[in-house]
Amino acid sequence: MKDLFGKALLDYQNGHYTEDIITSTSISDEDMLPLPYLFRSFDEMPKIEKKALKLCKGLVLDVGCGSGSHSLYLQEKGFTVKAIDISKGAIKVAKQRGVLNAEVMHVLEETKTFDTVLLLMNGTGIFQEMIQVSKYLTHLKSLLKPNGQILIDSSDIKYMYEDEDGGLWIDTNANYYGELDYFLSYKGENELPMKWLYLDFNTLRLACETVGLKCELVLEGGHFDYLARLSV
Ligand SMILES: C[S@@+](CC[C@H](N)C(=O)[O-])C[C@H]1O[C@@H](n2cnc3c(N)ncnc32)[C@H](O)[C@@H]1O
Repeated sequence: MKDLFGKALLDYQNGHYTEDIITSTSISDEDMLPLPYLFRSFDEMPKIEKKALKLCKGLVLDVGCGSGSHSLYLQEKGFTVKAIDISKGAIKVAKQRGVLNAEVMHVLEETKTFDTVLLLMNGTGIFQEMIQVSKYLTHLKSLLKPNGQILIDSSDIKYMYEDEDGGLWIDTNANYYGELDYFLSYKGENELPMKWLYLDFNTLRLACETVGLKCELVLEGGHFDYLARLSV
């Protein structure tokens, strides 16, 4: 990983904002990811993120914290938060912004337990592909204290396969339709291709059942997105 995502966050944080991140996927053309969005305040967050933050309790783990926007809000509200990310740049920025406990760490390396585990901005993305979902969910479950909860968002991206007539062009012989190859570029450099998983609620619920997690639909967003609450 070249950590172009972290580079972009560092540029924005240090006053060198000239360009946004460009993303594309195996099923969609180039799109702009505006850097200011990655530094959003509570008021600028989508309603499912606001709801997730309002539902937080106890000791919180913010997985894939990025620049730390969610962690900062929670810290201001008096929560003790640990923020982790695989991006060195992201963790540097989160620290600069005032996140007190931020560490470069892959979620599968985390061993402590928490009352709330937060995964936001398509939290299922880090599972990467369907065959890894059980492994990640089992691990996330092991991070829960008694009565702990996992708050995670994702989207049903079936709409991305719709043609103009409203027909779907999903290949039923292919892998699950939410499994995407994800490409990111920044300031003319290309990041190594990544896998990024979107899960519809029902598929997430079924996967949770197989690892002994309850999965509750908390809130639907404005565009096929949703917030789920997982617990034992
Ligand atoms: C879409 S960004 C979301 C950032 C932040 N949560 C937000 O809402 O602004 C996903 C983040 O997850 C991080 N990430 C991806 N895989 C991870 C993993 N296995 N463990 C920890 N962080 C991961 C990425 O580096 C990136 O910062």
